[in-house]
Amino acid sequence: MKYVVASVDQIPPGERKILDVAGRSIGVFNVDGDYFALRNRCPHQGGALCEGKLWGVLKADVPGAFEYSPRKEILTCPWHGWEFHVRTGQSWCDPRRLHVRSYQVSVEDGSVLTAGAGVEDGSVVTAPARGLVRGPYVVETYPVSIEGRYVVVDVPTRPPPQPISTST
Ligand code: FES
Repeated sequence: MKYVVASVDQIPPGERKILDVAGRSIGVFNVDGDYFALRNRCPHQGGALCEGKLWGVLKADVPGAFEYSPRKEILTCPWHGWEFHVRTGQSWCDPRRLHVRSYQVSVEDGSVLTAGAGVEDGSVVTAPARGLVRGPYVVETYPVSIEGRYVVVDVPTRPPPQPISTST
């Protein structure tokens, strides 16, 4: 079901609006003119995800050389810092799989030898930056459209509660 949540003026670029829609707390974001809606409940432990800070994407193809994309599409949960792509709701950090790799080091005639590869990227959803590790969580997202001067979010209605059977 479609809900008018704001006029476009009420959510300027870089801003967000958190509101209750169909019994859910939902954050509607304007990222440089593109609108996204996410459930304001972190799938990790239920933190108010949409109150978190938005960041750009940091890319690094080789150690020591990085590029920062100022387009703020990474939403950080204020509770434990998990990061979610605001476009898809996908988390892009999995501390259970992402760990610092250790290397054997030896000293041989003044040279230090290291070996090893980068992190694994088994993503199906396109990562906001190459080499990111897809996390296990995905936030519920909702389609957003602009109709006239209004921001409209399409939120599915919940099925009615099932009656409790009292038969014995
Ligand atoms: S509740 Fe969001 S990261 Fe833990």
